[in-house]
Amino acid sequence: MNRLEIDELIDDPGTRILVCCGSGGVGKTTTAAALGLRAAERGRNVVVLTIDPARRLAQSMGLTELDNTPRRVVDVDETKGGSLHAMMLDMKRTFDEIVEQHADPERAQQILDNPFYQSLSSSFAGTQEYMAMEKLGQLHATGEWDLIVVDTPPSRSALDFLDAPQRLGSFLDGRLIRILSAPAKVGGRGALKFLSAGMGLMTGALSKVVGTHLLTDIQTFVAALDTTFGGFRKRADATYKLLQARGTSFLVVAAPEKDALREAAYFVDRLGTERMPLAGLVLNRVHATRAGRLSAERSLAAAEALTEQAESAEEAGGEPDGSASRPADLRLVAGLLTLHAERLRVIDREERMRTRFTSIHPEVWVAEVPALPGDVHDLDGLRVIGESLGTG
Ligand SMILES: Nc1ncnc2c1ncn2[C@@H]1O[C@H](COP(=O)(O)OP(=O)(O)O)[C@@H](O)[C@H]1O
Ligand SMILES: [Mg+2]
Repeated sequence: MNRLEIDELIDDPGTRILVCCGSGGVGKTTTAAALGLRAAERGRNVVVLTIDPARRLAQSMGLTELDNTPRRVVDVDETKGGSLHAMMLDMKRTFDEIVEQHADPERAQQILDNPFYQSLSSSFAGTQEYMAMEKLGQLHATGEWDLIVVDTPPSRSALDFLDAPQRLGSFLDGRLIRILSAPAKVGGRGALKFLSAGMGLMTGALSKVVGTHLLTDIQTFVAALDTTFGGFRKRADATYKLLQARGTSFLVVAAPEKDALREAAYFVDRLGTERMPLAGLVLNRVHATRAGRLSAERSLAAAEALTEQAESAEEAGGEPDGSASRPADLRLVAGLLTLHAERLRVIDREERMRTRFTSIHPEVWVAEVPALPGDVHDLDGLRVIGESLGTG
Protein backbone atom coordinates (compact mmCIF):
# COMPACT_ATOMS: atom_id res chain seq x y z
CA MET A 1 0.00 0.00 0.00
CA ASN A 2 1.33 3.46 -0.95
CA ARG A 3 1.11 5.82 1.98
CA LEU A 4 -0.43 9.17 1.17
CA GLU A 5 1.71 11.94 2.68
CA ILE A 6 -0.96 14.37 3.78
CA ASP A 7 1.48 16.87 5.28
CA GLU A 8 3.37 17.14 2.00
CA LEU A 9 0.09 17.80 0.27
CA ILE A 10 -1.20 20.48 2.64
CA ASP A 11 2.19 22.15 3.08
CA ASP A 12 2.74 22.48 -0.67
CA PRO A 13 1.99 26.09 -1.67
CA GLY A 14 0.92 24.69 -5.03
CA THR A 15 -2.04 22.95 -3.36
CA ARG A 16 -4.84 25.51 -3.53
CA ILE A 17 -8.04 23.49 -3.41
CA LEU A 18 -8.72 20.21 -1.64
CA VAL A 19 -12.05 18.51 -2.21
CA CYS A 20 -13.17 15.80 0.21
CA CYS A 21 -15.68 13.49 -1.41
CA GLY A 22 -17.13 10.06 -0.80
CA SER A 23 -20.43 8.46 0.11
CA GLY A 24 -22.57 9.65 3.03
CA GLY A 25 -21.51 9.28 6.64
CA VAL A 26 -17.92 8.23 5.98
CA GLY A 27 -16.35 11.32 7.52
CA LYS A 28 -16.07 13.88 4.72
CA THR A 29 -17.02 16.84 6.90
CA THR A 30 -14.73 15.71 9.71
CA THR A 31 -11.83 15.14 7.33
CA ALA A 32 -12.29 18.52 5.64
CA ALA A 33 -12.36 20.33 8.98
CA ALA A 34 -9.37 18.38 10.32
CA LEU A 35 -7.31 19.05 7.20
CA GLY A 36 -8.18 22.73 7.32
CA LEU A 37 -7.17 23.04 10.94
CA ARG A 38 -3.93 21.14 10.44
CA ALA A 39 -2.95 23.18 7.38
CA ALA A 40 -3.73 26.41 9.26
CA GLU A 41 -1.66 25.39 12.28
CA ARG A 42 1.19 24.49 9.94
CA GLY A 43 1.17 28.01 8.56
CA ARG A 44 -1.34 28.35 5.74
CA ASN A 45 -4.27 30.71 5.42
CA VAL A 46 -7.13 28.35 5.02
CA VAL A 47 -10.86 28.49 4.52
CA VAL A 48 -12.98 25.41 5.04
CA LEU A 49 -16.30 25.23 3.27
CA THR A 50 -18.44 22.79 5.19
CA ILE A 51 -21.83 21.61 4.05
CA ASP A 52 -23.53 19.85 6.90
CA PRO A 53 -21.41 19.90 10.03
CA ALA A 54 -22.92 18.28 13.10
CA ARG A 55 -24.12 20.98 15.49
CA ARG A 56 -21.42 20.56 18.10
CA LEU A 57 -18.64 20.50 15.53
CA ALA A 58 -20.06 23.65 13.93
CA GLN A 59 -20.23 25.38 17.31
CA SER A 60 -16.66 24.47 18.12
CA MET A 61 -15.60 26.22 14.92
CA GLY A 62 -17.70 29.26 15.76
CA LEU A 63 -20.27 28.49 13.09
CA THR A 64 -23.32 29.50 15.04
CA GLU A 65 -25.12 31.42 12.32
CA LEU A 66 -25.70 30.41 8.78
CA ASP A 67 -24.62 33.67 7.19
CA ASN A 68 -22.82 32.22 4.21
CA THR A 69 -19.54 34.03 4.82
CA PRO A 70 -16.28 32.68 6.21
CA ARG A 71 -15.72 33.31 9.93
CA ARG A 72 -12.35 33.25 11.62
CA VAL A 73 -12.04 30.25 13.91
CA VAL A 74 -10.70 31.12 17.35
CA ASP A 75 -8.36 28.94 19.44
CA VAL A 76 -6.35 28.03 16.38
CA ASP A 77 -2.59 28.08 16.88
CA GLU A 78 -1.51 30.89 14.56
CA THR A 79 2.14 31.03 15.62
CA LYS A 80 3.30 29.75 12.23
CA GLY A 81 1.52 32.56 10.45
CA GLY A 82 -1.53 30.64 9.33
CA SER A 83 -5.19 31.12 10.08
CA LEU A 84 -8.43 29.23 9.73
CA HIS A 85 -11.74 30.53 8.50
CA ALA A 86 -14.77 28.33 8.24
CA MET A 87 -18.20 28.61 6.76
CA MET A 88 -21.29 26.52 6.45
CA LEU A 89 -22.93 26.49 3.05
CA ASP A 90 -26.34 28.10 2.96
CA MET A 91 -27.66 26.68 -0.25
CA LYS A 92 -30.62 29.00 -0.69
CA ARG A 93 -28.61 32.09 0.27
CA THR A 94 -25.95 31.22 -2.30
CA PHE A 95 -28.60 30.85 -4.98
CA ASP A 96 -30.16 34.19 -3.98
CA GLU A 97 -26.78 35.88 -4.16
CA ILE A 98 -26.28 34.72 -7.72
CA VAL A 99 -29.64 36.22 -8.64
CA GLU A 100 -28.78 39.47 -6.89
CA GLN A 101 -25.46 39.67 -8.68
CA HIS A 102 -26.89 39.06 -12.11
CA ALA A 103 -30.07 41.08 -12.12
CA ASP A 104 -31.01 44.67 -11.43
CA PRO A 105 -32.70 45.05 -8.02
CA GLU A 106 -36.26 45.08 -9.33
CA ARG A 107 -35.85 42.04 -11.50
CA ALA A 108 -33.91 40.26 -8.78
CA GLN A 109 -36.79 40.78 -6.41
CA GLN A 110 -39.21 39.43 -9.02
CA ILE A 111 -37.19 36.27 -9.32
CA LEU A 112 -36.67 35.87 -5.58
CA ASP A 113 -40.42 36.20 -4.94
CA ASN A 114 -41.35 33.73 -7.61
CA PRO A 115 -42.69 30.52 -6.07
CA PHE A 116 -41.07 28.45 -8.77
CA TYR A 117 -37.72 29.97 -7.91
CA GLN A 118 -38.30 29.28 -4.24
CA SER A 119 -38.95 25.61 -4.93
CA LEU A 120 -36.06 25.33 -7.28
CA SER A 121 -33.58 27.05 -4.99
CA SER A 122 -34.43 24.95 -2.00
CA SER A 123 -35.26 21.56 -3.42
CA PHE A 124 -33.96 20.93 -6.89
CA ALA A 125 -32.11 17.65 -6.87
CA GLY A 126 -28.51 18.66 -7.14
CA THR A 127 -28.91 22.28 -6.07
CA GLN A 128 -26.85 21.73 -2.96
CA GLU A 129 -24.09 20.10 -4.98
CA TYR A 130 -24.20 22.89 -7.49
CA MET A 131 -24.19 25.63 -4.89
CA ALA A 132 -21.20 24.09 -3.13
CA MET A 133 -19.30 24.35 -6.40
CA GLU A 134 -20.61 27.87 -6.99
CA LYS A 135 -19.38 28.89 -3.54
CA LEU A 136 -16.02 27.29 -4.22
CA GLY A 137 -15.75 29.42 -7.36
CA GLN A 138 -16.59 32.55 -5.37
CA LEU A 139 -14.06 31.81 -2.61
CA HIS A 140 -11.43 31.08 -5.21
CA ALA A 141 -12.15 34.33 -7.04
CA THR A 142 -11.49 36.44 -3.92
CA GLY A 143 -7.87 35.29 -4.00
CA GLU A 144 -7.83 35.64 -0.21
CA TRP A 145 -6.87 32.10 0.67
CA ASP A 146 -3.76 29.96 0.31
CA LEU A 147 -5.89 26.88 0.57
CA ILE A 148 -9.60 26.16 0.23
CA VAL A 149 -10.80 22.89 1.71
CA VAL A 150 -14.18 21.79 0.43
CA ASP A 151 -16.56 19.37 2.03
CA THR A 152 -19.18 17.84 -0.28
CA PRO A 153 -22.89 17.27 0.30
CA PRO A 154 -24.16 14.06 1.82
CA SER A 155 -25.47 12.81 -1.54
CA ARG A 156 -26.55 9.26 -1.64
CA SER A 157 -24.38 8.74 -4.62
CA ALA A 158 -20.97 10.25 -4.92
CA LEU A 159 -21.66 10.86 -8.57
CA ASP A 160 -24.36 13.43 -7.90
CA PHE A 161 -21.66 15.78 -6.85
CA LEU A 162 -19.81 15.69 -10.15
CA ASP A 163 -22.96 15.67 -12.23
CA ALA A 164 -24.75 18.53 -10.53
CA PRO A 165 -23.22 21.50 -12.34
CA GLN A 166 -23.93 19.94 -15.71
CA ARG A 167 -27.38 18.85 -14.71
CA LEU A 168 -28.42 22.17 -13.26
CA GLY A 169 -26.69 23.94 -16.11
CA SER A 170 -28.60 22.10 -18.78
CA PHE A 171 -31.82 22.38 -16.83
CA LEU A 172 -31.64 26.14 -16.62
CA ASP A 173 -29.79 26.81 -19.79
CA GLY A 174 -31.07 24.27 -22.20
CA ARG A 175 -34.11 22.95 -23.90
CA LEU A 176 -36.46 23.32 -20.98
CA ILE A 177 -35.88 27.06 -20.80
CA ARG A 178 -36.48 27.47 -24.51
CA ILE A 179 -39.63 25.41 -24.51
CA LEU A 180 -41.07 27.03 -21.44
CA SER A 181 -40.24 30.52 -22.49
CA ALA A 182 -41.87 30.14 -25.89
CA PRO A 183 -45.28 31.71 -25.11
CA ALA A 184 -47.15 29.88 -27.88
CA LYS A 185 -46.44 26.54 -26.33
CA VAL A 186 -47.30 27.24 -22.72
CA GLY A 187 -50.57 25.57 -21.93
CA GLY A 188 -50.22 23.40 -25.00
CA ARG A 189 -49.93 19.68 -24.66
CA GLY A 190 -46.27 19.57 -25.60
CA ALA A 191 -45.24 22.00 -22.93
CA LEU A 192 -47.28 20.25 -20.28
CA LYS A 193 -45.80 16.94 -21.14
CA PHE A 194 -42.33 18.32 -20.98
CA LEU A 195 -43.14 20.15 -17.81
CA SER A 196 -44.26 17.07 -16.00
CA ALA A 197 -40.97 15.43 -16.85
CA GLY A 198 -39.17 18.41 -15.35
CA MET A 199 -41.46 18.31 -12.36
CA GLY A 200 -40.05 14.99 -11.34
CA LEU A 201 -37.01 16.95 -10.30
CA MET A 202 -38.93 19.09 -7.87
CA THR A 203 -40.98 18.58 -4.78
CA GLY A 204 -44.18 16.62 -5.01
CA ALA A 205 -46.17 19.52 -3.60
CA LEU A 206 -45.41 21.64 -6.59
CA SER A 207 -46.29 19.04 -9.17
CA LYS A 208 -49.73 18.64 -7.62
CA VAL A 209 -50.73 22.16 -8.51
CA VAL A 210 -49.77 22.41 -12.14
CA GLY A 211 -52.26 25.00 -13.29
CA THR A 212 -52.37 28.13 -15.41
CA HIS A 213 -51.18 30.23 -12.55
CA LEU A 214 -48.13 28.13 -11.98
CA LEU A 215 -47.35 27.97 -15.63
CA THR A 216 -47.37 31.77 -15.75
CA ASP A 217 -45.06 31.88 -12.79
CA ILE A 218 -42.72 29.45 -14.39
CA GLN A 219 -42.79 31.29 -17.63
CA THR A 220 -42.00 34.62 -15.98
CA PHE A 221 -39.32 33.03 -13.92
CA VAL A 222 -37.65 31.29 -16.78
CA ALA A 223 -37.77 34.37 -18.96
CA ALA A 224 -36.26 36.42 -16.17
CA LEU A 225 -33.55 33.88 -15.55
CA ASP A 226 -32.76 33.58 -19.19
CA THR A 227 -32.23 37.28 -19.71
CA THR A 228 -30.49 38.05 -16.45
CA PHE A 229 -28.46 35.01 -15.50
CA GLY A 230 -27.34 33.93 -18.89
CA GLY A 231 -24.70 31.28 -19.35
CA PHE A 232 -25.43 28.81 -16.62
CA ARG A 233 -23.68 26.35 -18.82
CA LYS A 234 -20.67 28.61 -18.98
CA ARG A 235 -20.52 28.82 -15.21
CA ALA A 236 -20.78 25.06 -14.97
CA ASP A 237 -17.91 24.74 -17.43
CA ALA A 238 -15.80 27.19 -15.42
CA THR A 239 -16.45 25.14 -12.29
CA TYR A 240 -15.35 22.03 -14.12
CA LYS A 241 -12.14 23.69 -15.24
CA LEU A 242 -11.41 24.81 -11.70
CA LEU A 243 -11.84 21.23 -10.50
CA GLN A 244 -9.42 20.03 -13.16
CA ALA A 245 -6.93 22.81 -12.60
CA ARG A 246 -3.43 22.40 -11.26
CA GLY A 247 -3.60 23.08 -7.57
CA THR A 248 -6.84 21.18 -7.11
CA SER A 249 -6.70 17.77 -5.47
CA PHE A 250 -9.43 15.33 -4.57
CA LEU A 251 -9.41 13.14 -1.52
CA VAL A 252 -11.84 10.27 -1.60
CA VAL A 253 -12.96 9.47 1.92
CA ALA A 254 -14.23 5.99 2.75
CA ALA A 255 -14.85 3.78 5.71
CA PRO A 256 -13.21 0.35 5.52
CA GLU A 257 -16.53 -1.21 4.59
CA LYS A 258 -17.73 -2.93 1.49
CA ASP A 259 -20.25 -0.37 0.23
CA ALA A 260 -18.16 2.69 1.04
CA LEU A 261 -15.10 1.17 -0.65
CA ARG A 262 -17.08 0.12 -3.68
CA GLU A 263 -18.31 3.68 -3.99
CA ALA A 264 -14.76 4.94 -3.45
CA ALA A 265 -13.44 2.72 -6.25
CA TYR A 266 -16.17 4.00 -8.53
CA PHE A 267 -15.28 7.55 -7.63
CA VAL A 268 -11.60 6.97 -8.31
CA ASP A 269 -12.51 5.74 -11.80
CA ARG A 270 -14.85 8.62 -12.39
CA LEU A 271 -12.28 11.24 -11.36
CA GLY A 272 -9.87 9.59 -13.78
CA THR A 273 -12.40 9.83 -16.60
CA GLU A 274 -13.07 13.48 -15.82
CA ARG A 275 -9.33 14.17 -15.59
CA MET A 276 -9.73 15.48 -12.08
CA PRO A 277 -6.62 15.05 -9.95
CA LEU A 278 -6.90 12.45 -7.22
CA ALA A 279 -4.53 12.89 -4.28
CA GLY A 280 -5.56 9.66 -2.64
CA LEU A 281 -7.91 7.73 -0.42
CA VAL A 282 -8.57 8.59 3.21
CA LEU A 283 -9.56 5.40 4.95
CA ASN A 284 -11.43 6.68 7.96
CA ARG A 285 -12.48 4.89 11.15
CA VAL A 286 -10.03 2.07 10.87
CA HIS A 287 -9.79 -0.24 13.86
CA ALA A 288 -6.16 -0.56 14.70
CA THR A 289 -4.40 -3.67 15.85
CA ARG A 290 -1.48 -4.26 18.16
CA ALA A 291 1.38 -6.64 17.62
CA GLY A 292 1.45 -9.95 19.52
CA ARG A 293 -2.28 -10.31 19.55
CA LEU A 294 -4.22 -13.22 20.86
CA SER A 295 -6.10 -14.73 17.93
CA ALA A 296 -9.89 -14.53 17.71
CA GLU A 297 -10.13 -18.34 17.79
CA ARG A 298 -8.02 -18.70 20.91
CA SER A 299 -9.88 -15.90 22.65
CA LEU A 300 -13.22 -17.53 21.93
CA ALA A 301 -11.98 -20.96 23.02
CA ALA A 302 -10.68 -19.46 26.26
CA ALA A 303 -13.96 -17.60 26.77
CA GLU A 304 -15.89 -20.84 26.36
CA ALA A 305 -13.66 -22.70 28.78
CA LEU A 306 -14.06 -19.96 31.37
CA THR A 307 -17.83 -19.91 30.93
CA GLU A 308 -17.95 -23.66 31.53
CA GLN A 309 -15.83 -23.27 34.64
CA ALA A 310 -18.17 -20.57 35.85
CA GLU A 311 -21.17 -22.84 35.27
CA SER A 312 -19.72 -25.74 37.18
CA ALA A 313 -18.62 -23.44 39.98
CA GLU A 314 -22.19 -22.14 40.18
CA GLU A 315 -23.59 -25.66 40.23
CA ALA A 316 -21.20 -26.50 43.05
CA GLY A 317 -22.72 -23.77 45.18
CA GLY A 318 -21.36 -20.65 43.59
CA GLU A 319 -18.86 -19.84 46.30
CA PRO A 320 -15.13 -20.00 45.86
CA ASP A 321 -13.52 -23.00 47.48
CA GLY A 322 -10.33 -21.14 48.18
CA SER A 323 -8.34 -21.81 45.01
CA ALA A 324 -11.07 -21.42 42.36
CA SER A 325 -12.16 -18.02 41.06
CA ARG A 326 -15.61 -16.64 41.62
CA PRO A 327 -18.08 -17.38 38.79
CA ALA A 328 -18.75 -13.67 38.25
CA ASP A 329 -15.04 -13.00 37.67
CA LEU A 330 -14.81 -15.91 35.26
CA ARG A 331 -17.77 -14.58 33.31
CA LEU A 332 -16.29 -11.10 33.22
CA VAL A 333 -13.03 -12.36 31.75
CA ALA A 334 -14.96 -14.56 29.29
CA GLY A 335 -16.93 -11.50 28.21
CA LEU A 336 -13.74 -9.50 27.66
CA LEU A 337 -12.24 -12.29 25.60
CA THR A 338 -15.38 -12.43 23.45
CA LEU A 339 -15.26 -8.68 22.86
CA HIS A 340 -11.60 -8.98 21.95
CA ALA A 341 -12.43 -11.73 19.46
CA GLU A 342 -15.18 -9.62 17.89
CA ARG A 343 -12.84 -6.68 17.53
CA LEU A 344 -10.21 -8.86 15.89
CA ARG A 345 -12.80 -10.06 13.42
CA VAL A 346 -13.66 -6.44 12.55
CA ILE A 347 -9.95 -5.74 12.06
CA ASP A 348 -9.56 -8.79 9.83
CA ARG A 349 -12.57 -7.83 7.77
CA GLU A 350 -11.25 -4.29 7.36
CA GLU A 351 -7.87 -5.63 6.30
CA ARG A 352 -9.52 -7.82 3.67
CA MET A 353 -11.51 -4.83 2.38
CA ARG A 354 -8.42 -2.67 2.19
CA THR A 355 -6.45 -5.37 0.43
CA ARG A 356 -9.21 -5.85 -2.08
CA PHE A 357 -9.31 -2.12 -2.77
CA THR A 358 -5.55 -1.72 -3.10
CA SER A 359 -5.30 -4.74 -5.39
CA ILE A 360 -7.86 -3.17 -7.75
CA HIS A 361 -6.32 0.28 -7.39
CA PRO A 362 -2.63 -0.21 -6.59
CA GLU A 363 -1.91 3.31 -7.89
CA VAL A 364 -4.02 5.04 -5.24
CA TRP A 365 -2.22 6.48 -2.23
CA VAL A 366 -3.86 5.79 1.09
CA ALA A 367 -3.92 7.59 4.44
CA GLU A 368 -5.54 5.89 7.40
CA VAL A 369 -7.39 7.43 10.31
CA PRO A 370 -8.25 5.33 13.35
CA ALA A 371 -11.77 5.10 14.70
CA LEU A 372 -11.82 7.31 17.76
CA PRO A 373 -13.81 6.12 20.78
CA GLY A 374 -16.32 9.00 20.49
CA ASP A 375 -17.59 11.50 17.95
CA VAL A 376 -15.34 14.28 16.74
CA HIS A 377 -16.92 17.49 17.94
CA ASP A 378 -14.21 19.97 18.89
CA LEU A 379 -10.88 21.36 17.75
CA ASP A 380 -8.96 18.88 19.89
CA GLY A 381 -10.78 16.01 18.22
CA LEU A 382 -10.00 17.51 14.83
CA ARG A 383 -6.34 17.81 15.83
CA VAL A 384 -6.22 14.13 16.70
CA ILE A 385 -7.69 13.28 13.28
CA GLY A 386 -5.30 15.70 11.58
CA GLU A 387 -2.33 14.22 13.42
CA SER A 388 -3.12 10.72 12.24
CA LEU A 389 -3.75 11.95 8.72
CA GLY A 390 -0.38 13.65 8.80
CA THR A 391 1.88 11.20 10.51
CA GLY A 392 -0.14 8.01 10.23
N1 LIG B 1 -12.21 8.76 12.80
C1 LIG B 1 -13.37 8.92 13.45
N2 LIG B 1 -13.53 8.39 14.69
C2 LIG B 1 -14.70 8.54 15.35
N3 LIG B 1 -15.77 9.19 14.88
C3 LIG B 1 -15.67 9.74 13.65
C4 LIG B 1 -14.49 9.64 12.88
N4 LIG B 1 -14.70 10.28 11.71
C5 LIG B 1 -15.95 10.75 11.75
N5 LIG B 1 -16.55 10.43 12.91
C6 LIG B 1 -17.94 10.74 13.32
O1 LIG B 1 -18.80 10.15 12.36
C7 LIG B 1 -19.94 10.98 12.12
C8 LIG B 1 -20.06 11.25 10.63
O2 LIG B 1 -18.96 12.02 10.22
P1 LIG B 1 -19.10 13.18 9.13
O3 LIG B 1 -17.76 13.80 8.98
O4 LIG B 1 -20.22 14.09 9.48
O5 LIG B 1 -19.46 12.31 7.84
P2 LIG B 1 -19.95 12.80 6.40
O6 LIG B 1 -19.66 14.26 6.29
O7 LIG B 1 -19.15 11.98 5.42
O8 LIG B 1 -21.39 12.48 6.33
C9 LIG B 1 -19.73 12.22 12.97
O9 LIG B 1 -20.48 12.07 14.14
C10 LIG B 1 -18.24 12.22 13.28
O10 LIG B 1 -17.96 12.83 14.53
MG1 LIG C 1 -20.93 15.75 5.83
